[in-house]
Amino acid sequence: MSWLPTLQTNTPEQGYELAIKLSRMAVKKTQPDDETRSSLRHDYANNADSLTMASHVVATNFQTVAQANNYWRD
Ligand code: HEM
Repeated sequence: MSWLPTLQTNTPEQGYELAIKLSRMAVKKTQPDDETRSSLRHDYANNADSLTMASHVVATNFQTVAQANNYWRD
């Protein structure tokens, strides 16, 4: 099964979860080595700028997801 079968979600909150998934998947595809990601986890989890940047990436993806769902207006 595809890890991204659809951009459609029922609620904005589910859409936000999808935006997080997209963001994390980008990191995973950029750095496929589990051990390397685990070893870097401590650094980013404890760095305000890293966390702010991660939030920014999620915000960008959320824009795409929201648009794909017509901002859950219909
Ligand atoms: C865990 C998001 C970047 C490595 C998490 C979690 C979230 C998250 C929400 C918690 C998941 C949970 O506990 O259920 C993000 C976002 C990122 C990002 C939005 C950037 C856009 C990175 C980077 C690394 C990394 C750059 C390391 C290179 C990890 C690891 C965990 C984790 C190893 C722990 C997984 C676990 O304990 O099961 N991340 N992350 N992440 N992240 Fe990230």
